[in-house]
Amino acid sequence: MEKITDHLHRYKNYNFAVGFTTPEYIDSLQSFEIRDSDVLLVTYPKSGTIWTQQIIISICELDGGLNKYPNNLEQMPWLEYTEAGEDYALRPSPRLFSSHLTPALMPPGLKDKRAKIIYVMRNPKDNMVSYYHFSGNSGVLDTPTSFEDFFERYLMGNVGASSWFDHIREWHSKSDQYNILFLTYEDMVLDLKVAVTKICNFLGRNLSEAAIEQVVEKATFRNMKKDLKANYEFLPQEKVTKDFMRKGKIGDWKNTFTAAQSHRVDRLLDERLGDMSLKFIWE
Ligand code: A3P
Repeated sequence: MEKITDHLHRYKNYNFAVGFTTPEYIDSLQSFEIRDSDVLLVTYPKSGTIWTQQIIISICELDGGLNKYPNNLEQMPWLEYTEAGEDYALRPSPRLFSSHLTPALMPPGLKDKRAKIIYVMRNPKDNMVSYYHFSGNSGVLDTPTSFEDFFERYLMGNVGASSWFDHIREWHSKSDQYNILFLTYEDMVLDLKVAVTKICNFLGRNLSEAAIEQVVEKATFRNMKKDLKANYEFLPQEKVTKDFMRKGKIGDWKNTFTAAQSHRVDRLLDERLGDMSLKFIWE
């Protein structure tokens, strides 16, 4: 791995937080056996990962046949991290995974279009503010000296998971190679029931109206904040921040961004993703 900062190193054009994985393990994903029944949640960090984990896990639990694990992290582990030390080939199906990786680093078997991928995107201004706060509280990421400092690093892609713009482009432009459902964080905030129903249908799970309501209820910000299996407070403090459930809102960027910063992101969006007809909800 090539060292970028004290907390960040790069391998195969992608930035990993130090201590979570190794080049050998990332290479081994190229021969990782994907099953038809696998479900993968893919996000750029701070886009609603633990929220969507809670939804996917609740749906699969209610539909039955899911092996039980003590918390959402173990139920839906990160494909790219080694710390669990588990051989996932021994896990019973259906297996649920989370990942922040880009397509190039993913197991090639996903391209058979049988395993299901759910990709959640968040508008880059709220994403950046959420990532900034997370980095400030985290023991494992570089602490920003100011929002301006983080803003520049984020736009350069010098943060964990590299560039938000590249992540979005790579997954959206390769969508025809995968069995993939695209959702946005903002759509989930605006109508959680519709989002839950979409995920449920995509996963091919048959849930009653009452069961869908139950999933929605378990996934509200208020309920997740006190759900010890879902809110990541089970992580040891020295490992990572306890503040996964911060505000859970659209438009918080307005409390942090200057007008000039906002225009700069608008311009970059136009330059780098303007051809992709993506829609963003800002407030
Ligand atoms: P904020 O920092 O803006 O509050 P990730 O899980 O990818 O790390 O994303 C974390 C972001 O998702 C945080 O955003 C967090 O508050 C938000 N989030 C988590 N659960 C949520 C929920 N049930 N409803 C709305 N937002 C949620």
